[in-house]
Amino acid sequence: MDISSIIVALDDPNPTKNYDLMDRLAGVATRIKIGSIAFSSQGPKILEYAHQKGFKIFLDLKFHDIPQTVSKAVLSVTQICPIEFITIHALGGSAMIQAAKEVASMQEVPTSILAVTILTSHEQAWLSEISLQHTLEQEALTLGNLAKNSGADGVVCSAHEVSQMRSALGNNFIYMVPGIRLEGDAKHDQKRVATPKEALDLGATYLVMGRSITEAKDPASVLTGLKSL
Ligand code: C5P
Repeated sequence: MDISSIIVALDDPNPTKNYDLMDRLAGVATRIKIGSIAFSSQGPKILEYAHQKGFKIFLDLKFHDIPQTVSKAVLSVTQICPIEFITIHALGGSAMIQAAKEVASMQEVPTSILAVTILTSHEQAWLSEISLQHTLEQEALTLGNLAKNSGADGVVCSAHEVSQMRSALGNNFIYMVPGIRLEGDAKHDQKRVATPKEALDLGATYLVMGRSITEAKDPASVLTGLKSL
C-alpha cells in the first residue's frame, strides 16, 4: 500500500515524546495528526516543529462552537503554518461548517475541512443516552450529508461506515478513517476497528493510525512494513 495515505496520530502530553517520534518518522511518514492532547500541551510550537520536519499536518481539534468562534479559531491556527486538514464536529450545524470552510479556503495554501460524524469510541447505547432514535450508521450518514451540503471537504468516519458513506456522498470527498489496528493489536478504547487493508478496501482515502505505530519499539519500521500490504 501507499503509506503516504497513513496519518500518524501524535497523542502524547509529553513534548519530548512527540518531538522524538517526529524525529524518528521524518522522511518516512508523509503526514501526521496533532490532536487536542498534544496541542493543549505544546501549542503552536508543535505545529511549527512538524512543519519544519516536512510533515503535512492534520490538526484534529474537532471544533464545535458558534460559527464566528470556529471561523476565528480556524483563521488563528492556519496562520501558524500550512495545515492540510482541520476537523470540526458536523453536529455544530451548517452555519458553523460554512463559516469554517469560508476561512479555510481563503488561505494561501487552502485547508480542507473534515467533519467528524460519530466518534469511533461510541456505540449504539450512546445514541439512546442523547435520545437519538436511529442506528449509528444512519446518524453518521445524516451528519455526513449535512457536512457535504455545507461545504466540508470530507468526513471522519469508522471503517464500518465508510463504504455506505462513499456510496451516498460520492468519490469527490475525503474519507478519513481512524480506529485502525494491525492484526493482533489491542483495541484500547476503540470499539469499531479495522486493519489498514480492510479500511482501504472499504473506501477510506486516508487512515489515521495512533497507538499501533506510536507505541511500537520502532515506529518507522512498522510504517515501512505496511508498504508490502
Ligand atoms: O491510537 P489510535 O489509533 O486509536 O488513535 C486514533 C486517533 O484518531 C486518536 O487521535 C483519536 O483522537 C482520533 N479519532 C478517533 N475517532 C474519531 C476521530 C478521531 O479515534 N472519530
